[in-house]
Amino acid sequence: MIDSRELRNALGHFATGVTVVTTRNAAGAPIGVTINSFASLSLDPPLILWSLAKKSHSLAAFEAAPHFAVHVLAADQRALSDRFARSSDDKFADVRASSGLGDVPLLPHCAAVFQCSVEHCYDGGDHMIVVGRVQRFATDDRPPLLFYRGRYASGDDAPQALGSLVRVVC
Ligand SMILES: Cc1cc2nc3c(=O)[nH]c(=O)nc-3n(C[C@H](O)[C@H](O)[C@H](O)COP(=O)(O)O)c2cc1C
Repeated sequence: MIDSRELRNALGHFATGVTVVTTRNAAGAPIGVTINSFASLSLDPPLILWSLAKKSHSLAAFEAAPHFAVHVLAADQRALSDRFARSSDDKFADVRASSGLGDVPLLPHCAAVFQCSVEHCYDGGDHMIVVGRVQRFATDDRPPLLFYRGRYASGDDAPQALGSLVRVVC
């Protein structure tokens, strides 16, 4: 029998970046969730994927949305990650979002942004797997926010945390 908590801890040994995925719900309200299950999938066609917990309050919005945007967060955007990792009706308060493909909210100052149309949604156990077709993308030369074993690895503790992370990764 696999213990879910122990499995989660073991999976945390896989270091990732951090993204915020945004869209709009049927009423036009901005929706955003912090996601580290993001992965590249295919170059031709240009596909990416990520997964969303079925218990997420944002599930209905992402099930229905034709477009979404994946924002790869920069090292100094830890507060943005925390903000979108909590269920709230007010996640976009004071956030200066612009409008992208399908009127999807776009967050500023990210390391990269991938604007996507929804290609497929698959069942993935207690998550929904979303496959997106990249329609537009942009990058900025900013160091990324990293996540490893349940903690961020950047910001004030960057030299030490990133140093140990690089040792682990290499
Ligand atoms: C670094 C980080 C990565 C996360 N990655 C995911 C993920 O890949 N999929 C997911 O469903 N939730 C993920 N979460 C948790 C969601 O961000 C969190 O459950 C959020 O509150 C969901 O918002 P909602 O309930 O308003 O939809 C992550 C949280 C953090 C801090």
